Amino acid sequence: MKYKILPILICIPLLFISCAQPNSNLNGAVSSTSRIASQVGIDILKQDGNAFDAIVATGFALAVTSPANGNLGGGGFLTARTADGNLVSLDFREKAPELSYEKMFLDSEGNYVRELALFSHISAGVPGTVNGLIKIFNDYGSGNFTLAEIIQPAIDLAEQGFPLEENAAYGFDNNKKYFVQDSGSNEIFVKNTNNEVDFLIQQFKNNSITQEEYENKLSEINEWETGDIFIQKDLAETLKRISKNGVDGFYNGETARLIIEEMKKNNGFISIEDLKNYDSVYREPIVGTYREHTVVSMGPPSSGGTLLVQMLNMLENYELQNIERNSTEFVHLLTEIQRLAYADRAVHLGDPDFWKNPIDMLISKEYANERLKLISHDKATSSTEIAAGNEYKESMETTHYSAMDKNGNTAGITTTINFSYGNKKIVDGAGFLLNNEMDDFSSKPNVPNAFGLIGGEANAIEPFKRPLSSMSPTLIVDKNGQTILTVGAAGGSRIITAVLQIIISVIDHNLNIQEAMDVGRTHSQWLPDLIFYEKNALTKETIDELKLLNHSFYNNDNLPGNYYLARTHGIQRKNGIFITGADKRGKQNGNEAITY
Ligand code: GLY
Repeated sequence: MKYKILPILICIPLLFISCAQPNSNLNGAVSSTSRIASQVGIDILKQDGNAFDAIVATGFALAVTSPANGNLGGGGFLTARTADGNLVSLDFREKAPELSYEKMFLDSEGNYVRELALFSHISAGVPGTVNGLIKIFNDYGSGNFTLAEIIQPAIDLAEQGFPLEENAAYGFDNNKKYFVQDSGSNEIFVKNTNNEVDFLIQQFKNNSITQEEYENKLSEINEWETGDIFIQKDLAETLKRISKNGVDGFYNGETARLIIEEMKKNNGFISIEDLKNYDSVYREPIVGTYREHTVVSMGPPSSGGTLLVQMLNMLENYELQNIERNSTEFVHLLTEIQRLAYADRAVHLGDPDFWKNPIDMLISKEYANERLKLISHDKATSSTEIAAGNEYKESMETTHYSAMDKNGNTAGITTTINFSYGNKKIVDGAGFLLNNEMDDFSSKPNVPNAFGLIGGEANAIEPFKRPLSSMSPTLIVDKNGQTILTVGAAGGSRIITAVLQIIISVIDHNLNIQEAMDVGRTHSQWLPDLIFYEKNALTKETIDELKLLNHSFYNNDNLPGNYYLARTHGIQRKNGIFITGADKRGKQNGNEAITY
């Protein structure tokens, strides 16, 4: 009953803003990369669940509907604020298995072996997602649901199937060359209509076609279509075990046995003790201020919150509302402060259980002001004056999802298996993909990882350690104590700069969250010493002017017109109304964010 009366009362003064819509957006919102998973969260809110119930249900549903990044085999971070103002941050990042060692991705000559770090079973850290989601549910859920009720929608989606969205159909076909190398992934993600794929593999094995011809022909086979019903029986069984036994349904018993069997068959490192000993950890959130707002984000082992607050502290010295967005002046300033922050990332940040992170210094206003003295407003600073770096590869996976309820609870989770579909290896019989998060460690000092990020001792591989992340689930509280924004992104190192630009758009340029997401973005990260930019972000004139200031650009010429930097999701609460944001970049999933 209360759902019907409350909106009517509130809608009278707000009639001309938005309440005229049949579905009121005063009660809550869920934003994720999958409309189906967002709807699961909304259904929980409608049944008197809170934002924490909703986000956990959405998380389990994403593990089914968005296999590229939603997961059981990965990890993530939660940044949340309860209705009574408590700040919460939970670290359920993957951990290095006990058998890990510093040089595990180097060959006998000490060279970094990319294939090993990204596409082998030893690239997988001990997964944290299931432990994290269940802890959030137990500690912050409304108490109106059992865990089984929260997981049931995900079980139904896995068991009965769901219509594939465009990006999933594309992703399955696009990654075929990896999936065929793993029996579990091959079975689940490759249709092999008329044995066409088997035929090609045979031709390649017989040397009738070259590797290039094989890969080209494989990529031409488009088997999946939007709307195909995708069923995942093994995953449904794993979810049922979690539903029945809680964390033991994953870290013990049959699921653990299947993970260990997968490791033994493929020389992986994760042991039964690693699984049994895994635990997520509540961490101190990073808290800063920006123009009378409080910024709350994730601390180490994420670098996200620290860099974000550091960059906002620097930007606070400028009247950004008077600087045209993506003008020469704006991009120069952004690039310079990003350079300073990412230089600190490489040296100062690592897993807090292993490394003393100088957080107080990095997020202080004084430090920001000192650092700003290093930049000039007339000329680009050279990153190589600080240190060296080179190649840059990218991957866009990871995903952010969030929920807000009418009582003021706000929860945002960024989760990942690192690359799109992780290391592309399914745990046979358990139906979920393994992460390749171990590549987020610094495998060798000054050698870039898959995101072009370099690091040193702070982020070196050690048993039980968590690799440094860029994931930045962030929320903003206004001067009246209202949570007005929850936002996060996928995109590796670009996550932090994308979240930064959205916060600037909302606070300085007064855009709503969706408008903020729509603005073209730039990115730089100290090394490589380049500005990355979306083609619609900068005019040729601006690029030329920035070159005159000595800036160099990542060469976009051979990239598709829709090349993008990070993919963001979030929710804004403005005048009591929920406004959702779902990035339009990349393959579309339709309207992924839902209010009610
Ligand atoms: N795997 C990307 C990140 O955590 O930043």
